[in-house]
Amino acid sequence: MRRKINLNDNWYFTKEENQRVEIHLPHTWNAVDGIDGGNDYYRGTCLYEKEFTKPSFEEGERVYLEFEGVAMKATVILNEKEIGIHEGGYSTFRIDITDELKDTNRLKVFVNNEKNHIYPQSADFTFYGGIYRDVHLVVVPKNHFTLAYKGGLGIKVTPTVHLDTRCATVFVEAWVEGEAKEVLFETDNQKINVEVEAGYAKCEFVIEDAHLWDGINDPYLYSLNAKVDEDELCVNYGIRSFEITSDRGFILNGKEYPLRGVSRHQDRSEVGNALTKEMHEEDMAIIREVGANSIRLAHYQHAQYFYDLCDKYGIIAWAEIPYITMHMSEGRENTLSQMEELIIQNYNHPSIVVWGLSNEITAASIVNEELLENHRKLNDLAHKLDPTRKTVLASAFMLEIDSPILDIADANTYNLYFGWYLGDLVQNDEFFDEWHEKYPNKPIGFSEYGADTNPAYHSTKPERGDYTESYQCLYHEHMLDMIEKRNWLWCTYVWNMFDFAADGRDEGGKHGQNQKGLVTMDRQIKKDAFYLYKAHWSKEPFVYITERRYVNRNEK
Ligand code: GCU
Repeated sequence: MRRKINLNDNWYFTKEENQRVEIHLPHTWNAVDGIDGGNDYYRGTCLYEKEFTKPSFEEGERVYLEFEGVAMKATVILNEKEIGIHEGGYSTFRIDITDELKDTNRLKVFVNNEKNHIYPQSADFTFYGGIYRDVHLVVVPKNHFTLAYKGGLGIKVTPTVHLDTRCATVFVEAWVEGEAKEVLFETDNQKINVEVEAGYAKCEFVIEDAHLWDGINDPYLYSLNAKVDEDELCVNYGIRSFEITSDRGFILNGKEYPLRGVSRHQDRSEVGNALTKEMHEEDMAIIREVGANSIRLAHYQHAQYFYDLCDKYGIIAWAEIPYITMHMSEGRENTLSQMEELIIQNYNHPSIVVWGLSNEITAASIVNEELLENHRKLNDLAHKLDPTRKTVLASAFMLEIDSPILDIADANTYNLYFGWYLGDLVQNDEFFDEWHEKYPNKPIGFSEYGADTNPAYHSTKPERGDYTESYQCLYHEHMLDMIEKRNWLWCTYVWNMFDFAADGRDEGGKHGQNQKGLVTMDRQIKKDAFYLYKAHWSKEPFVYITERRYVNRNEK
């Protein structure tokens, strides 16, 4: 049987010479300096070390070292031998270490988050460094599902459904290592034994009267069991269909289902981006309380566990790579490898419907042939790896709506900040109405909008840029009303569900934070605007008195 051994405990961390401290994973070295403002957080190379004894394993079994997230570049050394390098701070990677194992093993991981060709390099969030997700040894039988290919699971499930008959076909593929001759697949009380040919096995199940995965109303999950000799895996999947249209917005299982949600960065005050399972669960509980039916997981690949929670609770997800703000000629391969890992590792999640190619990439780069070519390659790669989902492009508000970059992805969205950084609230309405009139057949979404808010600030005369809770409410009252009148906006995402670290910021009475969250970074305060969305989106009846923090009033 496959077994996982957790290696999170008892590491030594060294940042600079002679500063060797004992730590446990998950860990980031920017948990303090990445959140305190000044844009001076440590970006460099640090060393993580750990000793572990050789796990007992049978003749022929294989042992993999698995990292779920190391930002941004990892150089892995085992018993003084370099065994792997990984470039990309947000995806899982594994290394077969079977033949390198001794009775006692010394593991060294040099990690760096310095300026280089690995995205992200320019954006409004802290690029934390560290081994900030779990590390395991994975021991598998000689014949096992592939583990070393782009961090994938070696199992791919592609359900399709005919909505009129509810008849679904579930196409299952597996890639195996070793000399196995067949794989046993099982789902929906059906079993199929399939021959392995050149390490690959596939089959197709038919499910009559399929139980659909229907968003937050009924996120029904099937499970698929796959067994090759002694190795066994269970994968959840959901049967659904969706469309992105220009006139009816987002369609889920044949019905209009406007994606109305929030976005999230993976960090919080106490720990930076070294989140625990409980912290992921708390974030999901808050997102469900506000009544969002969708989430934009910006601006990079999030933890596997969080996509699992989206599957479980029916929250439709936008997944993306950190190709952001500034195009780098030397970064093209990194965009392609991050997109390949994002898709291969997350293909089976029913909650994910789109792959984001880039975010505001024209903010600091001109639209030239090199930039367009990088996007065409990403778009083609995504379609090749996953013909079942759509690609999207999130553009900055200053990008003209006839730019050629808008002809690449399947669907476009804009990040607009009229009424916060500049201009008037009504310009958001005008922007989308202009697009919809000029391009009635091109879907359009609203991938970001928000206003910074310090819940300690209040005013009886709120105005744009004052960081008051009062203005955030006025702002979102307008946006909610504008959105509710435009169902053809296929998605809308409040930027952001939570305040998050942007060490280059120093404003609104806080150091190092972007305060556009509906909730503070420590998850302790749900700002008044949180309850505005809860009143509009959630079915839970409640009473909430606003401006309760406005106690030191200098007028009646
Ligand atoms: C941009 C960008 C975000 C950023 C936001 C803001 O749209 O995509 O990453 O945080 O603006 O300025 O708050």
